[in-house]
Amino acid sequence: MATRTVIQGRPGPSVQEVLAGDVNPAPAVMLAESPAEHLGHGDVSIQRYFSKAWHDREVEKVWRKTWQLACRLEEIPEVGDHVVYEIVHDSLIVVRSGPDEVRAYINSCLHRGTQLRTEAGSVKQFRCPFHGFTWDLAGKLIHVPGEWDFPNLDRKDFCLPEAKVGLWGGFVFVNFDPACEPLETYLEILPEHFKAFALEDRYKAAHVAKIMPCNWKLAMEAFIESYHVPFAHPQVLGYYGDENTQYDVWPGVRHVNRMISVQGVPSPSQADLDPEVTIRHIRRDVPFYSGAPIVADEEGTARAKLAQRAREKIGRASGRDLSALSDSESLDLIEYLLFPNMVPWGGQALPITYRFRPLGDDPEKCIMEIMLLFSKRPDGSHPAPAAMTWLGLEEPWSMAAELGSAAMVADQDTENLKRIQKGLRTSRKPGVTLARYQESRIRHFHETLDAYMAAEG
Ligand code: FES
Ligand SMILES: [Fe+2]
Repeated sequence: MATRTVIQGRPGPSVQEVLAGDVNPAPAVMLAESPAEHLGHGDVSIQRYFSKAWHDREVEKVWRKTWQLACRLEEIPEVGDHVVYEIVHDSLIVVRSGPDEVRAYINSCLHRGTQLRTEAGSVKQFRCPFHGFTWDLAGKLIHVPGEWDFPNLDRKDFCLPEAKVGLWGGFVFVNFDPACEPLETYLEILPEHFKAFALEDRYKAAHVAKIMPCNWKLAMEAFIESYHVPFAHPQVLGYYGDENTQYDVWPGVRHVNRMISVQGVPSPSQADLDPEVTIRHIRRDVPFYSGAPIVADEEGTARAKLAQRAREKIGRASGRDLSALSDSESLDLIEYLLFPNMVPWGGQALPITYRFRPLGDDPEKCIMEIMLLFSKRPDGSHPAPAAMTWLGLEEPWSMAAELGSAAMVADQDTENLKRIQKGLRTSRKPGVTLARYQESRIRHFHETLDAYMAAEG
């Protein structure tokens, strides 16, 4: 039963009204809304977007304290498979150390500090390339060349230091803080919500990383609100619900928030648009809906027919019977944030997960990644996970063909982000001012960030 919530001034139809008219109903977790009513309203300081002192404190208070997405489990299927996860100057070897075990080792030799691994691969042991100290996959020191020359070295004191590891949804998470709360509680409501979306049944079909001309938080903020859509992405207004996007921030929940934007219906600013135009525009921008003609149904809506086309396409690609998949999962942006920097989506037509990280010690650059998580086949098999495509500062997202229609939108945002970063340095106003509702996820993020930054220890 949908909860009806009136957001003062928000134009309709609301997401809940659109979902109520769907042919295949949305999962129960989507049929409620939770507008932020418990957040503050002051400006958010701009120092956090460029100050080196803020960045240094963020390393200590955020990157060394929080759970972070390191990789997908399907990237390390066999014992000895590993990836290298880097965050500012910290580096971890995330390795499948046993058939059902994943560990994360500090990537630094205990002799004189050399990085043990510089890239993903598969090994039986970790051998330092400098003098050959060697550790097994359980982190035990097993070989020291010329050990006679280290009379004071006790092997049991030379186990590789570890970070904490947690698993959820087919993702591997790491945390540098030995005293951190367990991943299970850190994730709060996320596992309950994602029961409907089962990301553990997906595999990484595309992975593109790009150096962005801005602080990691600015990049992320541009992807967690739809308020900017009419100006930054005007091409989508014929088929995308911008101003009626639903934003959810739950009382007492620190690390998770959500937005839902409907597709296959026009923006409230174009409410009377002919549904044939909606269909034409989405087909123009999103090759996914191409193929045989799509005709609006008798009620004059495009949404049901577009959802049907999407179900057929995803079903064919994954070998699954998706005839019962909800219209919303077939069409909409169902986007969650997990503090600090992971943005997983629930739907299947837009199966995105974003990750945002600082680029080394430069607070005015970051690494933004877009992953696409496609469904595995019904027997759980899947193609090999995609290797990562790297794009430099000047290389546009559109160079990565694997991103399809997501690339054009991301390029439009990247152009703005360059100007936002520069403009904030110029500004004489000490804070940014946020919209009460449409930017409530950003507000919520910063309240959690401020709490971490102020924490003792
Ligand atoms: S630095 Fe690694 S063995 Fe010497
Ligand atoms: Fe955008």
